[in-house]
Amino acid sequence: MFDVTEVRVTGLSRESQCTLRFGSGALFAIFMALLAMAAILDYGSAPMAHTHLTYLVTGGAGFIGSNLVHYLFAQRPGSRVVVFDKLTYAGNLDNLEAVASRPEYELVKGDLCDRELVRATLRRVKPDVIFNLAAESHVDRSIDGPSLFMQTNVMGTFEVLDAALSQSRELSNTSKPRFVHVSTDEVFGSLGPTGYFTEESQYRPNSPYSASKAGADHIARAYFHTYGLPVITTNCSNNYGPYQFPEKLIPLVTLNAVEGKPLPVYGDGKNIRDWLWVEDHCAALLLAAERGTPGETYNVGGNSERTNLEVVHTICRVLDELRPKANPHESQITFVKDRPGHDRRYAIDASKITRELGFRPSMTFEAGMRKTVEWYLSHREWCDRITQGTYRRERLGLAG
Ligand SMILES: NC(=O)c1ccc[n+]([C@@H]2O[C@H](COP(=O)([O-])OP(=O)(O)OC[C@H]3O[C@@H](n4cnc5c(N)ncnc54)[C@H](O)[C@@H]3O)[C@@H](O)[C@H]2O)c1
Repeated sequence: MFDVTEVRVTGLSRESQCTLRFGSGALFAIFMALLAMAAILDYGSAPMAHTHLTYLVTGGAGFIGSNLVHYLFAQRPGSRVVVFDKLTYAGNLDNLEAVASRPEYELVKGDLCDRELVRATLRRVKPDVIFNLAAESHVDRSIDGPSLFMQTNVMGTFEVLDAALSQSRELSNTSKPRFVHVSTDEVFGSLGPTGYFTEESQYRPNSPYSASKAGADHIARAYFHTYGLPVITTNCSNNYGPYQFPEKLIPLVTLNAVEGKPLPVYGDGKNIRDWLWVEDHCAALLLAAERGTPGETYNVGGNSERTNLEVVHTICRVLDELRPKANPHESQITFVKDRPGHDRRYAIDASKITRELGFRPSMTFEAGMRKTVEWYLSHREWCDRITQGTYRRERLGLAG
């Protein structure tokens, strides 16, 4: 007969917390040794506890980053969120106005490529999780000026990874940060009419933007395999929702439509993208941080393939209802010269993140589009402040 004792084991790593039932002292000693070995060899693979953590969000003033900041405060009350952002044309502090006065929020204005500042910030903030979103993100701009994309997306990501590694070397296993590197499905190139991108798909980037993201993904991968930094990479499809800079398709078309301006559709409008409600992307990122396995990559998608023309027609239909006028909004559609090297189709197989982490998009495309159009209509001041700056919704990206 074994005398059974119950022991709560904590502190092997920040993430590990379990209740043991063991028989003899010898069995217990063996078990403890195995757990200690597992903690050394397999640091960071257990799901992390998620109360009162410190999150560092690079690019937190941008579209997805600011949605993530709001999501973290809503879903993980008591957490501290530090935004590290250069505040480029795409970074907008208006996006963070609602949290700006919270004591648990902090903004560090800085460039990912500023090695000393990135390192000093990580040393001071001691994040439990780093979400790396800061990037130059607009394909058209990457065609006109690829250099900045290489600097920010490749070298900037390298600097944050390297800073996280040097910080983690100074820390015990119990306080090393998890690193969620946020990437795109565009690294996989273009699909034909059938098939899906899986985590095993070959990297075939076609634009300077996607090539720079692919470079960053490879560096992130190497930092796990070479140094054991607990990096998790996500490759997501096109996002839509509040706070998106109005150079991107959905806000651009919405704002042009209500102002009676042309609705530009590239080429024949038949390029297909998979669309995901931005808050669902944020949910996937938090799942990846808390339950993802270091060294793994996860594709994230919305199961909502639409041609660009279908997206524009959807916006027009919503506006015909919300802002009716004499001619239907689709009469403003104008076909314009295609983007050089425009990928034809992206489609995501998100079955791995669904199966392993329990991710499921909560929003249908139709409901999400309606909410999005309503948001831009009811946030005209937000839109006007951006367009009164240097950006005037002009056509970019014809340099190729
Ligand atoms: N938008 C999408 O549909 C989508 C889809 C998949 C993946 N992603 C990825 O998600 C991330 C966020 O995308 P987004 O659409 O929110 O981009 P965004 O352009 O709206 O925001 C980027 C943010 O990064 C900041 N930034 C740029 N350069 C910087 C630098 N050198 N140092 C510090 N901060 C800097 C900007 O100021 C801005 O706040 C990107 O990495 C992008 O590749 C986007």
